[in-house]
Formats: sequence, structure tokens, C-alpha cells
Amino acid sequence: TIIDGSTITSTNPQTITFLNHQLVCIDNSGYIDRILSPNDTDYEAVKATAKRKQQLLSLNKDEYLLPGFIDLHIHAPQWPNAGLALDRSLNEWLNTYTFPLEAKYQEIDFAKSVYNNLVQELVNNGTTTALYFGTIHNQANLELARACNRHQQRGFIGQVTMDNREQTPGYYRDRSAQKAITKAETFIHQLMDFNKTALLHQTPVITPRFVPSCTPESLKGLGQLARQYDLPIQSHCSESDWENNYALENYHQRDAMVLDQFGLLTNKTIMAHGTLLNQSDLDLFKKAGVAIAHCPISNAYFGNAVLSVSQILEQHLKIGLGTDISGGYSPSLYRNINQAIVSSRMLHDGVDSSLPPARRGTKVAALTAKNAFYLATVGGAESLHLKTGQINPGYLADFQIVQAPYPAFMQQTTDDIFEKLMYHTTKDNITHVFVQGKLAKEGHYATQR
Ligand code: GUN
Ligand code: FE
Repeated sequence: TIIDGSTITSTNPQTITFLNHQLVCIDNSGYIDRILSPNDTDYEAVKATAKRKQQLLSLNKDEYLLPGFIDLHIHAPQWPNAGLALDRSLNEWLNTYTFPLEAKYQEIDFAKSVYNNLVQELVNNGTTTALYFGTIHNQANLELARACNRHQQRGFIGQVTMDNREQTPGYYRDRSAQKAITKAETFIHQLMDFNKTALLHQTPVITPRFVPSCTPESLKGLGQLARQYDLPIQSHCSESDWENNYALENYHQRDAMVLDQFGLLTNKTIMAHGTLLNQSDLDLFKKAGVAIAHCPISNAYFGNAVLSVSQILEQHLKIGLGTDISGGYSPSLYRNINQAIVSSRMLHDGVDSSLPPARRGTKVAALTAKNAFYLATVGGAESLHLKTGQINPGYLADFQIVQAPYPAFMQQTTDDIFEKLMYHTTKDNITHVFVQGKLAKEGHYATQR
């Protein structure tokens, strides 16, 4: 397939590259082979050949080719609660709404119906890769892998570990640290087997829920598993005062330090939230190569805080964007791009930084649409060590084709077009989604071609 049209891609946090009349050539293994511009000598010939072979997909004038988004933190089992139950603080919310829901996934039919609907919805919203928390149930987590495969999404899937009897309910808990570790190792092998016949590779992820949910024994065992199998690791870190206080009381250390002590902070670790990380935690992350999944909608509810993204970008830490369903209500990374920008404005204290910092403010906190787009694409891809998130040769052909939601009433610069896409795109404007070169969504506009 060759896609013919305007491309928008990010290569660093500050800038985008917007190019018209590109021919994006996808090879047989689903990577971008080359990209031709009208001044390339074989441009017309390549285009004509592709057209004759019916391999040319020409975008309409108001359509744009963007990289698919990477959701760097999402709880698949919480999808039925998205948009509900946001009236409690984190610990109460977990026990009142979230653990009872997640416990239901021992019913495999329930898992199947929720997971198929969720993955389809994410793909429809332009998300081509997702880093998932599943539940403690191996079979349900395998259903999530099947749903990803069926709907053509690249999944990173976490078998959740929670074995601490003091912080988890009897109806939803791993029976012992040893059993939890065995289940996590079993899931690794189950996914390896699954991948032998899968269209898209699905990756197992070591997933201690967070420090309070786990015993020191399970944290230690999971750290060893991650090292033995060289796997990604995910958890929640410094999301709330409650969680941080738990670590201080029980380990006499901050939660980042606790995770580090058990070998859980590596170059393949992604920690969700991090709103309360201090500078020494950030230094630790930087040294270990840990990435942060920024979840701006969720943080407004549970962190009651704003992550200082600009500070993290300045320090060159890896950082991507997550929906954190159902702590976050929306499956759309566009809405999280919007919230990342809006929340950052609350941190921003404007011109005069000598005024008392009313909101822990700094002068340079405000994010732009370009910064947030970087998080949803390049930042997420780097965090997962994937060649995706950019429209450049050698990268995976993971794309979304987006139609401008509103007409251009006046002359628009490329920056204007880009900003409007970031603020207004909904799933209805996403006409096609490609994952690894294969069509995962073909919207209702496609028939017009
Ligand atoms: N901390 C531990 N579990 C969870 C969860 O499910 N969601 C969020 N937002 N934070 C958590
Ligand atoms: Fe979360």
C-alpha cells in the first residue's frame, strides 16, 4: 500500500513536521519503506504504478495522515466504569467500585464482551498500541490478547499482581506471593504460545498493581521474573499522598525507592502518574531509564495535582500519555492531549514568578498542542522501545487518517490545521486506522473514494 497525502509527525517535543503530497510506501512486513516527495525523480512513476495496481490510497483534501497514538496506561477491566464512580478518593474508589468490578473477570464471557468492545473503541479513536493492566485472572488476560489480535491492536498486557492481605479484599486477591509469581510466569508462557499463531505480537508485562497491594515477597519475585525474561514492567508510582504514606510507614522509604529496591525500576519500566515524585525520585528514574505515563484526566480526580510535564521534558526523562480508564473517563487520547494542556495552564503562573505560587506554579509550565502530541506518539513509543509514533522510513506503519472536523473558513497555516486537529478530533473524524500496515479501521468516508 502507498498512502498519498499530507503527513504530520513529531520528532521532538517542540516541533512537528507537516508535509504535503507525500507518498508513504509500506512494505510487506508493515514498516514504512520510503517516503517520496514531489521533487523525487521517481515520484510520478511510483504513484502511477501504485494506482494501476490499485495499491494507492489517496487522502481527500481535508484529510491528514498522523501516527497512531500510544496509550501508555489503561485498565482494560475498568471500561464498564468509564465515566462513572468518580466521587471517592483513590483508596475508597478501589475498594468500593474497582475491585468488585475487576473480580468479575473470572467469568470469561464477561471478559470477552468487555475486551472486544474496548479494543475496538480504542482503535476507532486512533490508538494503535496500548499498555494494559488486566486483572489477576490469566484466562481473562488471554481474552484481552485475543481481542487485541482480532481488532489489530498492538497490546502490552499485564497480569496484575496483588497479594497483600491487608490492602486487598478476600474476593479479589492472589492467594500467596508464591502463587502470584507462578501466575505471572504462567502468563508469560501463555502469551508466548499465543504469539506463535497471532497476527500481531502481544507482549506480557510484569504488573505489581502498586506498592500497597503487594507483599515484599511478591515484589521481589516479580523483579526477578522481569530480569529473567527481560520484560517490561508497569505499576503506579507517587499517584497519591495515601500511597506514598503507605510506603513511608511500611518501608520507611518513598514508593519509588521501594520499587527500586526490588529491581522494578529498569529501562523497560513505565510508571503511571508520578504526580508527587520529588527531584530525587526523578533522578532515580533518570538513572534507571524509567518512563512516566502521564494521565492528566485521572490526575485531576485522584492526584488532585498536576504533573509538571515541562520539567520532566526538560530533564529528558521518557514520558508518554495514558487514559488511565476508568480513573480517567475517556478512551480518547485526544481528550487527554486536551487535558494535559488545560491542566498545565493551572500550573502556569504567568509572567511574574515572584508572586506567591498560588498553585505550586512555575513560569514555564504551560504545554502546547505540539508538546502533548509528542507525548501521545514519540514519547509513548520511546517508553516501550518501539519503532512507531513517527512517519519516517524504518518506522512501523501505524497510522490514523483524520479528517478536519470543521471547515477552514479562512486561510490556515499548517500549524493552525494541526492545532485544530488536536483540539477537535473525535472518533467520527478518524476515517482509517492502520496497524503494522494493515487496515484496522475503515470509517464511513472510505466508500466515497
Ligand atoms: N492505584 C492502584 N490501582 C489503581 C487503579 O486501578 N487506578 C488508579 N488510577 N490508581 C491505582
Ligand atoms: Fe491506573
